[in-house]
Amino acid sequence: MSTSASNGIPDELREALRKARFVAALTGAGVSAESGLATFRDAQSGLWARFDPRELATPSAFARNPKLVWDWYAWRRERVASAQPNAAHHALVEVERRAPQFLLATQNVDGLHQRAGSRTVVELHGNIGRVKCSREGTVVDRWHAPAGEVPRCSSCGALLRPDVVWFEEMLPGHALAAAEDAARNCDLLLVVGTSAEVYPAAALPSLAANHGAVVVEVNPNRTPLSAFADYVLRGAAGVVLPQLVAD
Ligand code: OAD
Repeated sequence: MSTSASNGIPDELREALRKARFVAALTGAGVSAESGLATFRDAQSGLWARFDPRELATPSAFARNPKLVWDWYAWRRERVASAQPNAAHHALVEVERRAPQFLLATQNVDGLHQRAGSRTVVELHGNIGRVKCSREGTVVDRWHAPAGEVPRCSSCGALLRPDVVWFEEMLPGHALAAAEDAARNCDLLLVVGTSAEVYPAAALPSLAANHGAVVVEVNPNRTPLSAFADYVLRGAAGVVLPQLVAD
């Protein structure tokens, strides 16, 4: 690894990014941390500090208490709607603009990559801004609920639910296939703001590495990925990614 670097980014990495034909990115909650949205596992600020998503973001929790789960997501939807993309999201838009081929797979459900201008976004865990019928799976863009109730599907009467992947649920097949294909074929994979603990998304970096990609981790903290990433940029995404794309 080169010792020379400019503003903390090794020159070799800058060159690898410049030469990469196909750049892929895998992001997690950390890329939205500087937009004020809580991550899952950061102890102090994490969502889990106040709620345990494993008690809320599951099919059984929704079956047991649909109103509680619906209200938790409504609360998160409001927080997401008032959040703004941060410098990390915008830097990834710049990476996409420069790369001949690009794909961004995100575990986030906040839609901030798209709001920042990213075009090829694969949502591995869905999108909190979308609501779907819990029986038919059809996405609805408007709904009405009598006070204190969870809205129901106008065509079949089943409860509506957020269009996100819950624990114990399968990821959307097309999204996972696109992300795995990108991991196999990319020349460089940026892994930003994920604890790399939740599968199958967490398998993508090693899939990329096994197919010869340069793997770059951007995270202020150590993760299981840190041991095998080619480059570990230990810092906040909103600071590091702009440095990566600075001319
Ligand atoms: P986590 O909360 O597990 O991890 C967030 C990661 O972001 C941690 O490694 C932090 O160190 C890092 N981080 C914090 N601030 C950062 C910053 N400013 N810049 C860069 N990194 C920062 O969130 P995820 O890895 O996204 O699944 O969690 C993966 C999945 O676990 C989520 O999609 C969710 C959860 O269960 C489902 O909801 C299905």
